[in-house]
Amino acid sequence: METDAPSGQGLTGRVALVTGGTSGIGAATAEALLAAGYRVAANYGSNKQAAQAFAARTGIPVFAWNVADLAACEAGVAQVQAALGPVAVLVNNAGITRDAMLHKMTAGQWREVLDVNLGGCFSMCRAVIEGMRERRFGRIINMSSINGLAGQAGQANYAATKAGLIGFTKSLALEGASCNITVNAIAPGYTDTAMVSAVRPEVLENILKSVPMGRLATPAEIARGVLFLAADEAGFITGITLSINGGKYMT
Ligand code: CAA
Repeated sequence: METDAPSGQGLTGRVALVTGGTSGIGAATAEALLAAGYRVAANYGSNKQAAQAFAARTGIPVFAWNVADLAACEAGVAQVQAALGPVAVLVNNAGITRDAMLHKMTAGQWREVLDVNLGGCFSMCRAVIEGMRERRFGRIINMSSINGLAGQAGQANYAATKAGLIGFTKSLALEGASCNITVNAIAPGYTDTAMVSAVRPEVLENILKSVPMGRLATPAEIARGVLFLAADEAGFITGITLSINGGKYMT
């Protein structure tokens, strides 16, 4: 596919698949990849109405499946590949919160977050990795979080998954390197999305006070990191965690 996107952004008409790609950071990422010349597919979980509105607005095709279900991921990837071609770039962005202090957290809240955030990354990578190895090219970008690095009261489940994604990323980076597959993580800080809006206003106000830049990230600022890591020119960057957090936590 011919493209005329600006240089330095992986301009090849490659297929990029973004999970949780119809809202928040995922939607901004899907749109940024499209603007850079990728052929983009956006996965979503259950909000069909929002997904259809996103598809109508952007022209990006949307596909529904539950990333926590391996068989559903395999079927979903097959559907995307039949429609667009082999997946070259996978952005594991789908994630949920079920915040509670540990002394109030249920086993269900623990399990659900692990299944989607960490299990989803396993299942999606499992569904694309053999094809990437055969084609000897891949870019996998996993959405971690500042809270996987720094911890966050009320998020033992979520932080465990986001820290887990970093170990997963490093391990798969080692496995993929000889096949020209890079695997990296992004650790966004607090970003202007529905997930963050769900935090109680007084709690969020305190969090914002601790951000040196004094504001939330925009989803587009996180998407910029994805574009950077997906680019051909980023081919020697693998196994890293790119923090984008306005200075709140420096590693
Ligand atoms: N550190 C230490 N203790 C804290 C605390 C903190 N940051 N926040 C609350 N506590 C303490 C409180 O002082 C309170 O103690 P006492 O019972 O002794 O008074 C106790 O924990 C209970 O606090 P709450 O009254 O807030 O408890 P709750 O059950 O009503 O609410 C909660 C718990 C839902 C987890 C709420 O505290 C909360 O929403 N916290 C913010 C969680 C958060 O930051 N989520 C991020 C979502 S965005 C995201 O995840 C995206 C991303 O990647 C950045």
